[in-house]
Amino acid sequence: MKTLALISHKGGVGKSTLAIHLSVQAKQQGLETLLVDLDSISSTASEWASIREEEQPLVVTAELSDIAELHQQATDESFDLLILDCAPYVTDEILDILRVADFTLLPIFPRFSELQSLSKYINLPGLVAYSVILNSCVADSDVEESFKTLEVQTMLEEHEIPVSPVNITRLEAFTDSLNAGHAACEYQAEGEAAVQIHKLLEWILAEGCKDQ
Ligand SMILES: Nc1ncnc2c1ncn2[C@@H]1O[C@H](COP(=O)(O)OP(=O)(O)O)[C@@H](O)[C@H]1O
Ligand SMILES: [Mg+2]
Repeated sequence: MKTLALISHKGGVGKSTLAIHLSVQAKQQGLETLLVDLDSISSTASEWASIREEEQPLVVTAELSDIAELHQQATDESFDLLILDCAPYVTDEILDILRVADFTLLPIFPRFSELQSLSKYINLPGLVAYSVILNSCVADSDVEESFKTLEVQTMLEEHEIPVSPVNITRLEAFTDSLNAGHAACEYQAEGEAAVQIHKLLEWILAEGCKDQ
């Protein structure tokens, strides 16, 4: 089993959005996937699951302190992929997440102010295999990638901070599909949101969560 964690020190950067869309995409690709909602205040993933008609992927809620046991249980139950959608803060307990994660995604918006916040995590002991992912990128009208996105991406690369080659754009489809209890790949299978999530999962599985 591979374990993917999504962490950040603040809310609203897209942890739950990415976790949910990735979990449905993974399930569609035949991976038995367990999505864990660790944010008891927002409860985004579990609320989404409660309005969803399909039972898969399985979504459970948990406390950070339960994570080692839950990881063992998911391994015993032969899940292929465990996705941990974390609460928006970085405390010492986050180390329990890093202990079980094969790969950690740090979503940020492509803004300079967000770059500063990265120092809160990238020196965490135990954060080994990780990547920043730029979420909610806005395309300039006539180019695929905005100047701002490219600039932030270049800065990350210059500082040797790993960054996903797949950027996630700000798209209504990410929100609209979730509001209907679906995910991008079920909502508009060929749509841009679905294509981006598909590419992101492929990259995570190939580079981030590959077998040792
Ligand atoms: N790429 C995106 N395009 C459009 N809306 C997005 C995108 N990413 C996140 N959102 C929206 O931003 C809000 C916060 O996202 P969420 O995933 O709940 O953040 P977090 O889990 O980090 O607190 C939600 O309303 C979500 O629908
Ligand atoms: Mg969340």
